[in-house]
Amino acid sequence: MREEISIAPSILAADITALGTELARIAGADLIHIDVMDGHFTENLSFGPAIVAACKRDCSIPLDVHMMVTNPDETIDWYADAGADMISVHVEAATHLHRIVHRLRDRGVRAGVTLNPATPVSALESIIEDVDAVLVMSVDPGFGGQSFIEGTYAKLRQLSDLCAHRRVNPAIEVDGGISAANVEQVVAAGADTLVAGSAVFGAADPSAEMELLRELATRGLALRDA
Ligand code: DX5
Ligand code: ZN
Repeated sequence: MREEISIAPSILAADITALGTELARIAGADLIHIDVMDGHFTENLSFGPAIVAACKRDCSIPLDVHMMVTNPDETIDWYADAGADMISVHVEAATHLHRIVHRLRDRGVRAGVTLNPATPVSALESIIEDVDAVLVMSVDPGFGGQSFIEGTYAKLRQLSDLCAHRRVNPAIEVDGGISAANVEQVVAAGADTLVAGSAVFGAADPSAEMELLRELATRGLALRDA
């Protein structure tokens, strides 16, 4: 398991009319999480490659693109071309997951695979050695501001066990309903990369909120060893 915590604010919760200002408010972030929704895999629509390219121009923090689309096989290159540093695709949507992961890595993009809440960890058994990150959804994708699904803790522990058994160490990212109320526990269960939309952008001081999340996450690391 990784001992280094990354905080990844999701700009889905940002004021999109003032994106440059919003990015400046999260200058201490480790990653910028960009949710791509296509109106098919999720009911909702959000950002496309132009927003990824705009973020790339405006800030130097690595971009973490979460693709909630039905056709990642056909569209990952748009996001790699736009400057994504990491791209995660849903196992439920990819037709040729192995090919996608290796195409990303060949392009120098970190490759992540994502599990919906109802998809078991066993869906990763044939791909876990090949990925840089696993993104565990702790809500059904599509909207910010949803409630964290409690079964995620057990899933994170199963995933940590799978990684230990296979002797691999991908980043373990958790996304959906993450806040000061659960960060310590998700890290204790194995997560190291924390996506937070409304918790960060809904706070009066997003930087201070990220530091609070980081502090609580660090406590969670200590609980892992206990
Ligand atoms: C949900 C997105 C999340 C979302 C998280 O489909 O993948 O990244 O922005 O938002 P919060 O943190 O508000 O649950
Ligand atoms: Zn996301």
